[in-house]
Amino acid sequence: MAKYRIAYLPGDGVGPEVLEAARMVLDAVGFDAEYVHGDVGWKFWCEEGNPLPERTIEVLKNTDACLFGAITSKPKDEAEAELAPHLKGKGLSYFSPIVAIRQMFDLYANVRPCKAFPGNPLNFRDDIDLVVFRENTEGLYSGVEFHPVPDEVVEVLGKHSPKMERFAAVPRDELAISCRIFTRKGCERIVRAAFEYAKQHNYPTVTVVEKPNVIRETSGMMVRIAREIAKEYPGIELWETNIDAMCMWLVKNPQDYGVLVSSNMFGDILSDLAAQLVGGLGFASAGNIGEDYGVFEPTHGSAPKYAGQYKVNPTAAILAARLMLRWLGEEEKAERIERAVADVIAEGKVRTYDMGGSASTLEMAEAIAAKAERGR
Ligand code: IPM
Ligand code: MG
Repeated sequence: MAKYRIAYLPGDGVGPEVLEAARMVLDAVGFDAEYVHGDVGWKFWCEEGNPLPERTIEVLKNTDACLFGAITSKPKDEAEAELAPHLKGKGLSYFSPIVAIRQMFDLYANVRPCKAFPGNPLNFRDDIDLVVFRENTEGLYSGVEFHPVPDEVVEVLGKHSPKMERFAAVPRDELAISCRIFTRKGCERIVRAAFEYAKQHNYPTVTVVEKPNVIRETSGMMVRIAREIAKEYPGIELWETNIDAMCMWLVKNPQDYGVLVSSNMFGDILSDLAAQLVGGLGFASAGNIGEDYGVFEPTHGSAPKYAGQYKVNPTAAILAARLMLRWLGEEEKAERIERAVADVIAEGKVRTYDMGGSASTLEMAEAIAAKAERGR
C-alpha cells in the first residue's frame, strides 16, 4: 500500500495539464502515493448542476491531502445560461468549488509564498521574498449576501446603525449587500499562523494589512488581535499598513517586507500583486491549510484560452506539490523540488512562453523532474 492517499482534482481549463506536470515531478522524487481522482469544475456544473459533487467531497474526506488544478468560474447569469436544459429554471446557483472546499474543511490559512528565483527574467527584483497569509474562510467571502435585499434586513440594519438611513428608501432590487464577517477566532488563528511561520523561517517582520481607519469594526478587530499576538513573539516586529498603501509599498520597496497577513479579500488581492513581483501567476503556489487537511493549488485560474495546448508554465503547480510535501513532513523531497526549480530557472535553457521561451508545459516539468530525481 502507498504511504499517502492524495485527492487529485484537476478541474478544467489548464488545470489537468499543470497537475500532470506536478505529478511528473512528484514521481521523480519518489513520492509514494495513491492518487484518487475527484470530479470538480465547470463540466459538472453544466451537466449535473453542481460543480462540486458529493462524491468528490467524500474523496477529500478519505485522503491525506489534495492537489487541486484550476476551475472556470463565471458570474451568476452566464453560469445559469450554460446549464443543461433539464437543469434550467430550478433555482440552482453556481458557487466557486475552491471557496466551498476551504469553508467546508475549515482550511483557514491560505499560504502563498512569493520568492524571486534568481535568473527569472520576469522578476521585478531578484531580492524579493514575501509570504502572504490570507484568511481563507470568512471576511467578504463568507457568502452572506443579499440581492434584492429583504425589507427585514434593511429594517434591522437601520435599527442598529444610523449609517443605514441613506439606503432605507432605495428600491430593494437596486440594493445589494455583501457581509464582511470577521470572528476573533478567525483573526487569531491566521495571525498566529503568520507569526509561527515567521519564527520558523526567520522572517524579522510580520505586516498586518487592513484598513482600520475606515473599516473600523472588522479591520479594527484584526489589527487589535495582531497587536495582542505580536507580544508573544518578541523577536518579530509587527508592522501595520493599510491595504492601499501596501499596494504602493509593494511596488516601491517589496524587498523590505517578509510575512504579510490579511483578511480574505485583501489577501486575495495582495497575493496576485506579490505573485507578479516574482514572475507572475506561473510561479505562484498556494496551500489551503487547516488543522488536519490541506489543499494545494497553483494560484492561477483555468486560462480557458490555453486549455489543451500544454503551453502554460507548470512551475506554480510544481511548487504547490512542494508545499504539499512540506506539509506532509516530506522535507527532503520538498527541498529537492525547490532546488530543481531554482536550477532550471537559473540555467535558463528551458523556458515556457511567459518567460520568453518555447518549452511546453511538460518539457518544463521534465527538466525540473530530471534535476529533482537526482538531487544535488
Ligand atoms: C484565488 C482565486 C480564487 C479566490 C477564485 C478562483 C475563487 O482568485 O485562489 O486566489 O478568489 O480565492
Ligand atoms: Mg485570487
